[in-house]
Amino acid sequence: MTSMSVDTIKANNERLKRYQALETHAAKLIGGWLPGVARWEIKKQLGYHLWEDLKHSQLLRTRLWELRINTPDRDLDPGLAEAIERLAVAQHDYEAIAGIYLALKTELLAAYRRYAANTYQVYDHPSVIALNAIIPGLAAQVEWANRVVRELADTGDKRRNVQRWLTYAGDVVAAIGGVDGDQPRAGFPVPPPGYATLLPFSEARRDERFTIQVTGAPIPDEADNMGWLLWQFSNYTQEMQAAETLATVMGEAKGMEWEFYFDIARHCWDEVRHVELGETRLGQLGHTVTDFPCSVGSYGWRQLFNPLIRYCALTYIIEADSFKLKHSSYQRYVALNDTESAQSIMYDIMDETMHVRFGQKWVPRLMERYQYPGELQALIDECRGIVATHAVSPAQRMAALAK
Ligand SMILES: [Fe+2]
Ligand SMILES: [Fe+2]
Repeated sequence: MTSMSVDTIKANNERLKRYQALETHAAKLIGGWLPGVARWEIKKQLGYHLWEDLKHSQLLRTRLWELRINTPDRDLDPGLAEAIERLAVAQHDYEAIAGIYLALKTELLAAYRRYAANTYQVYDHPSVIALNAIIPGLAAQVEWANRVVRELADTGDKRRNVQRWLTYAGDVVAAIGGVDGDQPRAGFPVPPPGYATLLPFSEARRDERFTIQVTGAPIPDEADNMGWLLWQFSNYTQEMQAAETLATVMGEAKGMEWEFYFDIARHCWDEVRHVELGETRLGQLGHTVTDFPCSVGSYGWRQLFNPLIRYCALTYIIEADSFKLKHSSYQRYVALNDTESAQSIMYDIMDETMHVRFGQKWVPRLMERYQYPGELQALIDECRGIVATHAVSPAQRMAALAK
């Protein structure tokens, strides 16, 4: 036990409140940046991290509830949200990653280790267990980011950018008194000249290995078994755009309850997994993701609309309408004795069932948040019209028009 005042419980609870909020804020900022990250493997990993962050936040919030803090977002230091806004003005993906991971999350990791070591080991043991459950995942994230920033910052100019940005990001964290908020506070630093937010991204970025096309691939002839298989599983890799749309919803829809971000983060990561589902099956068939044109048009048109429309169009129309094709594909693979394809589609169907339920849960709340003037049915009709006119994926447009 290091020196602790009689107010240890109060100070510790304040720390845990900050930790759970910073985990959530970091995930939202990663969400905002996700479409702007070019490198495929890095984008996928970020999609997993934002979900992992919300899981970490959940562990902390559960512990706070035990400590009689039922509303951990109430009376939070407003500097936390402001610090995140200031980290958002990065101009390059490697800067954004450096700021979030090498500055903020590195400090967070140190704070977790400090808390776990210094608190009452018997009375506050559940907090120690919660933090020890988080620490390995967070440490792996930080280690990953160190490697990725080194890889991406591969010129002298880029390395200078990273150094300058890390100094700035460190000053941002210092301006809120550090992660624990107990250090002397300076004012927020001035960002490097010309740095203003690039969020939200109107276009989804891809790295140089991909051939970009705006529209989705045409639906192949039913009789062409291999053509159908490759079309279906390369289409799964296009679901990166769904992940990117959900990531922007996390980043842009401010002021929603914490549970919203938890569900959207899960949904976002699921879409990244559907990309991996596609890549896994393509790999078994001797292909890689970059053998097929990569479309970014679905992300692009959805960004023309606010998060309410984007999210409603995705869940109530695009995902809800996708089951017919998926069930018929499942039957087709069963008939062809293609168990691997059939099983992967069935897991996907189960994920999508959950996503449609998320939509039913959160669209009404987003309608309040964005003050939608009509009834739910009017919104659904509007979104159907939007998908029918804007969709660049032939399957999505056909399904929307068929209703
Ligand atoms: Fe999906
Ligand atoms: Fe989905």
